[in-house]
Amino acid sequence: MPQKFEKESTTKLNYIIQPATWHDLNELRTLEQICFPIDRWPLLDLIAVLSFRNVTRLKATYKNKMIGFIAADIKKRGTASWIATLAVLPDYRRQGVATALLKRCEATLENPRIRLCVRQTNIPAIKLYTQNGYIRVDKWSRYYIDGEDAIVLEKNRAE
Ligand SMILES: CC(C)(COP(=O)(O)OP(=O)(O)OC[C@H]1O[C@@H](n2cnc3c(N)ncnc32)[C@H](O)[C@@H]1OP(=O)(O)O)[C@@H](O)C(=O)NCCC(=O)NCCS
Repeated sequence: MPQKFEKESTTKLNYIIQPATWHDLNELRTLEQICFPIDRWPLLDLIAVLSFRNVTRLKATYKNKMIGFIAADIKKRGTASWIATLAVLPDYRRQGVATALLKRCEATLENPRIRLCVRQTNIPAIKLYTQNGYIRVDKWSRYYIDGEDAIVLEKNRAE
């Protein structure tokens, strides 16, 4: 009798992007610990990013689990808006989740200029941002706790 084999699943990751709230604190804490082993934010910063006004905060969820998060300040005029954090859990990377979070977040920001900083050795993140129209505008020497430089990237949607 021929053996039956289950066909391997090739389904696309069916995640949802929606606003995050302070109810997401524990999951965000876990995600930050996993994604930022050196620079994870203190608890107070996580509470702030989930509760302050003038912050866009979006989560990507898959099967009710937070798999990605982005936050940015909402500055209507003047200097640039800043993306404060963006992270995706390792098991869900390279499937477009960060790109989708970035695009959705950008769409909420009225300021045409958006900036962020990134470790100069963080090639995956630098590639993600340059692929999405960000260019290098500055370098902050020894910005990170371990002395690594930060690269400042900017996207100017007015140009
Ligand atoms: C950087 C990060 C957010 C990317 O998340 P992601 O969901 O895997 O990103 P995407 O799938 O949208 O990838 C978009 C593009 O980014 C680049 N990229 C992402 N991961 C990469 C990797 N490991 N190596 C090389 N390029 C990579 C690629 O150009 C990719 O496009 P492609 O898959 O068509 O080649 C994720 O790796 C992460 O959370 N890292 C730890 C936290 C972090 O560094 N955050 C950024 C701080 S500024």
